[in-house]
Amino acid sequence: MAEPLKSQPCQLALFGQPVKHSQSPKIHQGFAAQFGLAIDYQLIESSAESLHDKVKGFFAEGGHGANITVPHKQNIMPILDGLTDRAAQAGAVNTLFKRNDQLWGDNTDGDGLVMDLRSKNINLDNAQVLIIGAGGATQGIIPSFLKAGVAEITIQNRSQEKAQQLAALFPRCQSEDHLEGAYDLVIHATSMGHHGLCPELQSHWFGDQTIAYDLSYGQAAEPFLEAARSLNARTVHDGLGMLYGQAALAFEIWTGHSPNIDLS
Ligand code: ATR
Repeated sequence: MAEPLKSQPCQLALFGQPVKHSQSPKIHQGFAAQFGLAIDYQLIESSAESLHDKVKGFFAEGGHGANITVPHKQNIMPILDGLTDRAAQAGAVNTLFKRNDQLWGDNTDGDGLVMDLRSKNINLDNAQVLIIGAGGATQGIIPSFLKAGVAEITIQNRSQEKAQQLAALFPRCQSEDHLEGAYDLVIHATSMGHHGLCPELQSHWFGDQTIAYDLSYGQAAEPFLEAARSLNARTVHDGLGMLYGQAALAFEIWTGHSPNIDLS
């Protein structure tokens, strides 16, 4: 839990590059309205060189909490006083909060994704999960899938060595595509959608019960979701619900209030 809210409006911010088109201010204003709280959620464009000073300055001037986004989820770690277990396991931080005058990092991405999948009635218990991509986004969600009780996670990546290294960090994770049938859940976690591209997909990964999910949302999710549809995935989802889920969990850390999510 973060320190209690001292004054309103509560000062919040997102640090990243680019942050101009972020939906986070709108999402958090909507959450705050549910509880009659006044918040000021700023977007702070930060280069790798300026990030540390900007974050320290924000909290020195009364900042209550912050989100960290691409490309700084790992860059931020050296200036933090503490990490929650889930941030340590994810190897990345997306949420900052103050505890006993110290600056802590948490990671709500993976639990936000699991929250969204559960809200869509997607069963993770004993599921066979395939994740395409082996970067920070993948590492961020693996601990939450393991906690949610999936049977096994298979990681596929352009660089097979990176997939092997990542799989070796976690139990029930491997990088060999050894499944006879289709996967229950196929997650796209590379950055290719932002360039209008989709990784090569194998048709045997998909069956009529397979759920396809892209961690990106909007246009960036379309190439993968379209390819998954053509391979007859049962349903396809972009990552908008994950965006709201991770935000709701961050909001709860900062304010103690658990907001309702309405994606309509
Ligand atoms: P993030 O931290 O957002 O996950 P990242 O660490 O840069 O971003 O990882 C991006 C992922 O997308 C990696 O798995 C990368 O594959 P490599 O490990 O082989 O580099 C994958 N990726 C990016 N562009 C790709 C492309 N054109 N084709 C295949 N994979 C790609």
